[in-house]
Amino acid sequence: MTDHDPNGQRNPAMNTPSLDVLFPAHIAELRSRTDRALAAAGFDGVVFQSGEPLGLARDDQHYPYKAHPHFKWWAPLADAAGSLIHYRTGSRPQLIFFVATDFWYQPATLPQASWVDEFDVVIVHSQEDARAALPKDLSRTAWLGDPLAELGGYGLAAVNPDGLLRGLDYTRARKTPYEIECLAEANRIALRGHAAAADCFVRGGSEYDIHQAFVGACGQREQELPYNAIVALNEAGSVLHYQILQRHRPTRHHSLLIDAGATCRGYGSDITRSYAASGADSTFVDLLAQMDDLQRHLCALVKPGVDWREIHQAAVEKIAALLCSSGILRCSVEEALSSGTARLFFPHGIGHLLGLQVHDVGGVMADDRGGMIPKPPLDPALRLTRQLESGFVVTMEPGLYFVEALLKPARSSHHAPRINWDTIDALAPYGGIRIEDNLVVTDSGVRNLTRERGAVA
Ligand code: GLY
Ligand code: MN
Ligand code: MN
Repeated sequence: MTDHDPNGQRNPAMNTPSLDVLFPAHIAELRSRTDRALAAAGFDGVVFQSGEPLGLARDDQHYPYKAHPHFKWWAPLADAAGSLIHYRTGSRPQLIFFVATDFWYQPATLPQASWVDEFDVVIVHSQEDARAALPKDLSRTAWLGDPLAELGGYGLAAVNPDGLLRGLDYTRARKTPYEIECLAEANRIALRGHAAAADCFVRGGSEYDIHQAFVGACGQREQELPYNAIVALNEAGSVLHYQILQRHRPTRHHSLLIDAGATCRGYGSDITRSYAASGADSTFVDLLAQMDDLQRHLCALVKPGVDWREIHQAAVEKIAALLCSSGILRCSVEEALSSGTARLFFPHGIGHLLGLQVHDVGGVMADDRGGMIPKPPLDPALRLTRQLESGFVVTMEPGLYFVEALLKPARSSHHAPRINWDTIDALAPYGGIRIEDNLVVTDSGVRNLTRERGAVA
């Protein structure tokens, strides 16, 4: 241990003793799910590799290291490149923890936390040691991780076999109580960032200023965030995954759309808030309030057994109705839907699974063997088509945007007569609106992790 890093973790959100209490039951559940997946795929052991740092081309530097999701599922170690979890059906998992003997970088340190007690721990200093810590006979063991050249000599049954990956990906949709509390904490951390970002917006900050306010209040480095924060002032809000952080302050602030999350033990929040500047166009201010209502109504539809495609369809219909009632469209709601005009303003899905990955795996899987549940033909961007189950964590993120790339061609297409172009021209400087919360499907309904401690917007 070093004095600057007492728990062996660079990110304080990794050191949350209250989460440790839930960890043994999490591992027990992972063991039973992995037993089933291994049996179905015909293996009796698996090695989850944390991943190796990825080098820059023709350089001696590396991209920010990110642990592989399956490894993080088992162990909350963000900085343990080169480590392994070895699990054999019915046995205690083994953590093979790699500590480099290096004087250029700070070697990893094993945290002093009770969660470590769930593993038989072996400390290794080389890849050869790591191989030696595994059983000699790996002929019924699968490897999940980087397909390292050295694996040829390991005698493994398979490297990244589809069948096992499918079984594990499918089951990852259902979160354990430990995972749900990690996601709740990731929400609490991000909400501090959102409050600081909103304050910076009110004070006239640039996109870059707002971004720095966000990360500063979260206390997380950019590479620790679950995804690059989207900080969009004015018309940039119409770019769904806007990635530029303008340094200059625009002459006038009309609006802010900020889609930004934080991590806790490898789990990420994914939260969007939209704001109107003081003095904003009243049509936009009204739209914002109505989108907030609409989003809350959609959240209330979430419960076990509901087909997510139905919630998406409900969102499309509600947004179409708002487009018509606000005067953006001049046609009936039925026509806005059947013509496809409404979808020009809401071109993405209503939400997705959330967990170790922002767009968590398994959203369109029919079962653990690999069948797919089709997306609605008009909604190819929908990332979740499964029926909701207790334990799923999803985002709810309706949007309404003035996307130049979609509206420009619409000016000379069959959509044109249904659109009130004067209103579009007035609202285009506001970019768009998205409001995104993170929801847990519970036995009886829904728990909103993002609004538990008061809304940000
Ligand atoms: N932040 C990406 C998304 O909302 O899906
Ligand atoms: Mn999202
Ligand atoms: Mn988002």
